[in-house]
Amino acid sequence: MQITLDTKPFATVETEALVTYLFESDDPVQGRISEIDQAAGGLLKTLSQSGEFSGKPLEMTLLHSPAGLKATRLLLVGAGKREKFDVAGLRKIAGAALRYLKARSVKQIAFLVRENDLDDSSAQAVVEGALTADFETDKYKTDKKGEKSVDSFVVTGYADAERAAGDKGVTRGRILAESQNFARELVNEPANKLTPKILADKAAAMAKGAGLAVDILDEKKIAELKMGALLSVAQGSIEPPRVIVITYTPANAPAPGSPVLGLIGKAVTFDTGGISIKPADGMEKMKYDMAGGATMIGTMRALAALKPNVKVVCVVPSTENMPGGKAQKPGDIQTAMSGKTIEVLNTDAEGRLILADAVTYAKQNLGVTHMVDAATLTGAIVVALANVNVGVFGGADQAWTDKVLASAKAVGEKMWQMPMDDEYREFIKGSFADIQNIGSGKGGGSITGAWFIREFAGDTPWVHLDIAGTAWNDDAKPWLAKGPTGVAVRTLVHLAMSY
Ligand code: BES
Ligand code: ZN
Ligand code: ZN
Repeated sequence: MQITLDTKPFATVETEALVTYLFESDDPVQGRISEIDQAAGGLLKTLSQSGEFSGKPLEMTLLHSPAGLKATRLLLVGAGKREKFDVAGLRKIAGAALRYLKARSVKQIAFLVRENDLDDSSAQAVVEGALTADFETDKYKTDKKGEKSVDSFVVTGYADAERAAGDKGVTRGRILAESQNFARELVNEPANKLTPKILADKAAAMAKGAGLAVDILDEKKIAELKMGALLSVAQGSIEPPRVIVITYTPANAPAPGSPVLGLIGKAVTFDTGGISIKPADGMEKMKYDMAGGATMIGTMRALAALKPNVKVVCVVPSTENMPGGKAQKPGDIQTAMSGKTIEVLNTDAEGRLILADAVTYAKQNLGVTHMVDAATLTGAIVVALANVNVGVFGGADQAWTDKVLASAKAVGEKMWQMPMDDEYREFIKGSFADIQNIGSGKGGGSITGAWFIREFAGDTPWVHLDIAGTAWNDDAKPWLAKGPTGVAVRTLVHLAMSY
């Protein structure tokens, strides 16, 4: 899909569909909408008075051959109340409009950004919305819905004087959305097409293409480093594990002692549960248990283009979690890279095991000073927050957690901080080893999971994002296909760019 910004008057834009949005009110025909209404001889006022459109969120009204416009169609999308409207709303509108028109075989779209919204962040949101909406999960279908592709998408409404801001937004929007879609592509791959080795190859190819340094630790190197927690999960599979390390260094080399941001992502390419095996029903979904890793790899792709002023190191431990003759068993005691011993009471709580060694490696070997991890860690976070909010867990440094939450808010990704009281730490105190990999108390499953990782983060400022509920849409949304969402890429890019 070709994306451009055009500053000529919107009425003169030749396109198969001009899209704009209107707010919910008794008289939604205001501003630019009334310019269109006047050209169309009052048609819009008539439709609004008859109740045919009211501006309710994502309500769609498609008009053919609109008088006074060069466009062959006019799509009006409801934007809800003006007071509640923000760039997140605009992103959804652009996405929903694209999917609505694509389903009707429209090939060219022009999107009219309205008065009062003409800045770089609006252009960025519109482009993000359009590109993420255009992504389909039909890679392995021989009859592709994607053949109904939109060829061109033009952002309009900007005057010549607003062009620079608009163009900047379009460029950033494209980088972010393409990186988010890159993460989604990885998550969409089934486990037979995406083993830890293949994930490492794909990540390395992306990094090389983007000019990032990459280091892939293989099973030998992982053993040399004594990553006992990661190896304990990997030992049940014939597929060897990998640790993917991607580094971005700013052009102006940072002074010694400058912060180094560590992005750690869980990449279990398939989670059967191991010997503590999961039920068959729904197990196929566990191909998305590498979404945390994909998020971090996608984030690095965006950072390579946007060039933040901070060194960023991404560490993605990757393995399968399989039952088998060599698989670890409940009760096994493992020694993590940090030297801590772990009693593995449930082999299905494997994400925290592989993250433990990745966090240790990031701190000890890569000099990371601030960390964020992302992981499809627990079913419990789905119970707590459903598919609406990412669960956010922080360490002692609340200021660092606040910084991550502020980035999430700025980019319109819903995240909610969960409690981390010391009482929960007691749940993972070990009986036969230093620490156990599941809580002994009832409940609080996502918190004990977070506490386990925190034990390895120690004093290093750290935030854990549990994306088990938000990395995968079970149903399509008007603005997004069913399947991988690419959640947290935008937040983490914003976080790195805020240095
Ligand atoms: N990958 C799962 C978590 C998960 C569950 C992600 C549902 C997405 C949807 C993780 O490895 C896991 O199995 N966690 C267990 C932990 C339990 C054994 C303490 C869980 O949540 O049930
Ligand atoms: Zn598991
Ligand atoms: Zn898992």
